Amino acid sequence: MSFLDQIEPLKQSALAEMRNAADSPALEQARVSYLGTNGKVTSLMKQLGTLSKEEKPAAGKLINAAKTEIEAALAERKAELDLLASRPKEPVDFTLPGRRRRLGKLHPLTQVTEDIVRSFRKIGFAVADGPEVEDEYHCFDALNTPADHPARDTQDTFYVDNPSTLDPRAPADSRPSFSLLRTHTSSVQIRVMEKQQPPVRIIVPGRVYRRDNADATHNPTFHQVEGLYVDRNVTVGDLKGTVEFVFKELMGSETRIRFRPHYFSYTEPSFEIDFSSSLTRKMGKEWLEIAGCGMVHPQVFENVGYDPEIWTGWAFGFGIERIAMIRYGINDIRLFYENDARFLRQF
Ligand code: DAH
Repeated sequence: MSFLDQIEPLKQSALAEMRNAADSPALEQARVSYLGTNGKVTSLMKQLGTLSKEEKPAAGKLINAAKTEIEAALAERKAELDLLASRPKEPVDFTLPGRRRRLGKLHPLTQVTEDIVRSFRKIGFAVADGPEVEDEYHCFDALNTPADHPARDTQDTFYVDNPSTLDPRAPADSRPSFSLLRTHTSSVQIRVMEKQQPPVRIIVPGRVYRRDNADATHNPTFHQVEGLYVDRNVTVGDLKGTVEFVFKELMGSETRIRFRPHYFSYTEPSFEIDFSSSLTRKMGKEWLEIAGCGMVHPQVFENVGYDPEIWTGWAFGFGIERIAMIRYGINDIRLFYENDARFLRQF
């Protein structure tokens, strides 16, 4: 058979094999057998060189055209096979509803903390911060609670040996000071006043620790918000007005508060704050205790170098978990820390 006569049948068989290839491996096999280095079309093209000068141009043109046609058929079949492969193997119900991706949300304690901070910002308070690993001085002594003070028993905590303060070169009679996990945010009152001259108007949200066994209302770690206001001529009236404003914002405008005399070593006089609202009545009580507060003790001012003859102030502290539990009707404090999405999704 002449060179020219071979081209058409070869093309026809190549096109048929390409078009009928059942899958990608079969198509690849067809490609190699025609267009590969030793493929039939390639071999025929190599024979072009043996043709005479007169035959060559027509033969070259014809075989190139055939090759182009074969390549087009290859590409077309490849596209068809790719499309087939991408179709689902199983029947699919396109009318099923899509899968929603749930948006994350803030932890209920974070939400309550942010609400508290927002209310205090409205009346000019700034957020301050202090260390959770404290020393005894800032957590107790500077707050007028020396080592032998009974108030320390109610705030037992986790003590950590602190090598720097247990230095063997220290005088034998000096009492070593320990690092501890702070039992309340009140330590930050001291840290702020040590660094800053009055007036002071801060709130301190933060984590605190106590040696408590976990039950429905106790946990070894929980959260508090501390407040401190220092200026000239500050009164209990300022304290009460401020607390009332914030609790109405947090718990609703019909909220009422009352002060009961109490004792804290860093305030004088000291009070416990009760509040009453539809929430407390839902819990079967008219009044619920919610916070401690009082006028800053002159000794505390002395300890930070403020002159108690000039400066007056008030402070308060309350637990964030307790507020969140009352607000959302949660009956077990441990739920806050279990990271159970079914619980957390509700807020
Ligand atoms: N630190 C107290 C506690 O943890 C709460 C408290 C009471 C804070 C009176 C104060 C205060 O600033 O004046 O129980």
